[in-house]
Amino acid sequence: MGCGTWAWGNRLLWGYDESMDAQLQEVFDVCVGNGVTLFDTGDSYGTGKLKGQSEKLLGKFAQAYVGLNCDRLCLATKLAAYPWRLTRGSMVAACKASAERLGRNVDLAQMHWSTANYFPWQEGALLDGLADLSEMGLVKGVGLSNYGSKRLKWVYRKLRDRGVPISTLQVQYSLLSTYPVTELGLKDVCDELGIQLIAYSPLALGLLTGKYSENNVPKGIRGVLFRQLIPGIQPILDCLRAIAADREKTPSQVALNWCICKGTIPIPGAKTVAQAKENIGALGWQLDGGEIEALDRTVDRLDKVMVQNIFQTK
Ligand SMILES: NC(=O)c1ccc[n+]([C@@H]2O[C@H](COP(=O)([O-])OP(=O)(O)OC[C@H]3O[C@@H](n4cnc5c(N)ncnc54)[C@H](OP(=O)(O)O)[C@@H]3O)[C@@H](O)[C@H]2O)c1
Repeated sequence: MGCGTWAWGNRLLWGYDESMDAQLQEVFDVCVGNGVTLFDTGDSYGTGKLKGQSEKLLGKFAQAYVGLNCDRLCLATKLAAYPWRLTRGSMVAACKASAERLGRNVDLAQMHWSTANYFPWQEGALLDGLADLSEMGLVKGVGLSNYGSKRLKWVYRKLRDRGVPISTLQVQYSLLSTYPVTELGLKDVCDELGIQLIAYSPLALGLLTGKYSENNVPKGIRGVLFRQLIPGIQPILDCLRAIAADREKTPSQVALNWCICKGTIPIPGAKTVAQAKENIGALGWQLDGGEIEALDRTVDRLDKVMVQNIFQTK
């Protein structure tokens, strides 16, 4: 695939407005200049008048960028399994529409979620469409998102019969969301099938940065969720802070490094250059066995953890 070993998520959600575009271009430039070359977006990111905005922005940033690592860019998008996408052709059309918004071919096309939990009959045609994209040479690779081990194995067999490998699987994975690996066993299955595991929301939407507290939560639905979680997650924040202080790193950097140590590629979302630079500081070093064990032991004993994505399958 030629993707980098580090990536940036590009979801237009928490508090985006168009006045942020110049700042986000800077974030993009800093990331690529520092070797962060995999960027993840989705055709469902941005609604109403901002429909498709995340892909449009990413395409604009990539086009404007000149400099180091320019030739190593990997633009990944996720194609939504909307209820009105019913045929293989609808996936091909969706990917072409994403390419149009990006102003270049999609490098990695991912099925955003499985319909197994509600319309299992819908999925076969969409996966055929995903494989068509690879066969038609419209993408360099295909991937999945929010699949559990059982469903992943089923898709793997289906695509293998057509000679199409699955490059990546992205799931919600962080110190506050270990379920995909500890309960579903996805890391072992991915290793066995030659699939790279990508960790989305690796900072638990910002909670693991340690900057939020009961008296300081972000606006909107994230604030509601954070209020419920913050009292129960103090032990892991304390553990992150202690390791960070010891290593002269920040809690965010330790939380992201933990994802890397677990063999995943984290795709943190960064809104500012300062956040991007901080997150890039999670690269180039490794937590030791004792530190990883301390973090693992602490999360095992937590009262509360992140809720799983409703589309995550078994
Ligand atoms: N496949 C899927 O279904 C799916 C679902 C969700 C996400 N994703 C992907 O994963 C990407 C990242 O996930 P996410 O944005 O949900 O969660 P995340 O990476 O865990 O959290 C990102 C948020 O944390 C804060 N932050 C990031 N770095 C920081 C730093 N160094 N210091 C302080 N605050 C920092 C920022 O928000 P504030 O500054 O506002 O706190 C930022 O928006 C998305 O962009 C998307 O590409 C995929």
